[in-house]
Amino acid sequence: SRSIDLAVIPGDGIGQEVVAEGLKVLTAVLPQDVKLETKEYDFGARRYHATGETLTDADLEALKAHDAILLGAIGDPSVPSGVLERGFLLKLRFAFDHHVNLRPSKLLPGVATPLAGDPKIDFVVVREGTEGPYTGNGGTIRKGTEHEVATEVSVNTAFGVERVVRDAFARAQARPRKKLTLVHKNNVLTFAGHLWTNIFNKVAEEYPEVTTEYIHVDAATIYLVTQPERFDVIVTDNLFGDIITDLAAAVSGGIGVAASGNINPSREFPSMFEPVHGSAPDIAGQGKADPTATVLSVALLLRHLGYDAEATRIEDAVSADLAERGGLPARSTSEIGDALAVRVAG
Ligand code: IPM
Ligand code: MN
Repeated sequence: SRSIDLAVIPGDGIGQEVVAEGLKVLTAVLPQDVKLETKEYDFGARRYHATGETLTDADLEALKAHDAILLGAIGDPSVPSGVLERGFLLKLRFAFDHHVNLRPSKLLPGVATPLAGDPKIDFVVVREGTEGPYTGNGGTIRKGTEHEVATEVSVNTAFGVERVVRDAFARAQARPRKKLTLVHKNNVLTFAGHLWTNIFNKVAEEYPEVTTEYIHVDAATIYLVTQPERFDVIVTDNLFGDIITDLAAAVSGGIGVAASGNINPSREFPSMFEPVHGSAPDIAGQGKADPTATVLSVALLLRHLGYDAEATRIEDAVSADLAERGGLPARSTSEIGDALAVRVAG
């Protein structure tokens, strides 16, 4: 019989609340014959304050045994900036080689957008997840003096670029519009930019049905606002992807509904699914957080594990719930989770 062995990392702040709802919906959507096992891990600010640890080798060993990871949010103002980002989140993405950072943007019915008119937004960003300026390759000399020099080297390998570009082409090929946009800055970042462009053009030859285009990242931020319908699948480097996916979230309903997957398509290591939003300490513990982004991340998780029908049921339930919510007074975190659980089960 089928089973899912899930590592659950609620984390800090609203992470706790939204993950509870994500699990509620996951439990409700799974057929009787699928055995769901969950193990909770206490990573985040509390563990860091108690032990000084963010993520140890033993933790990585333990996490490795699971089929997938569901993460709420990690981060708290009591921890110096960068400690949990580098010591937990990025460490995990690198250790498990999560090179496909998948971030869909879809403007669902009933959801408000700051954009004018009635834009059709339905695209997915494939953000490279293990290279670029995120590798921690840099340094500083003459630190603290007025002659300090800091470098932050963007690392781009042919291997790393090709595998994420291939993944993006395959995703574009599988979608009705079959369009793939490379976003970079090859007019200025000529070394990395040309590597990306050359590999993109080479792989494109294997996908004659996929329409391709290239857009500089600065221009892409304009088009994401003025003509978001232009995009179907976007492939881009780690840092550009970080920035444009926050913009993408803002135009398609905000971070309350933005889901993401940190994926290792080879399944050699478990992939991790998380809402794009952070731990929001200002509203933590008040039942105000929207669990929709986490619930949609659960849908991505299910699709990654091959449960397509269940993933679609969750996405349909979220659409219906958001459409119905328009105009109604805001509901609490658990009320939204309850409503979604009822919908996916029915
Ligand atoms: C994200 C976040 C992270 C990133 C930070 C917290 C390290 O902004 O998931 O987009 O930059 O990737
Ligand atoms: Mn980000």
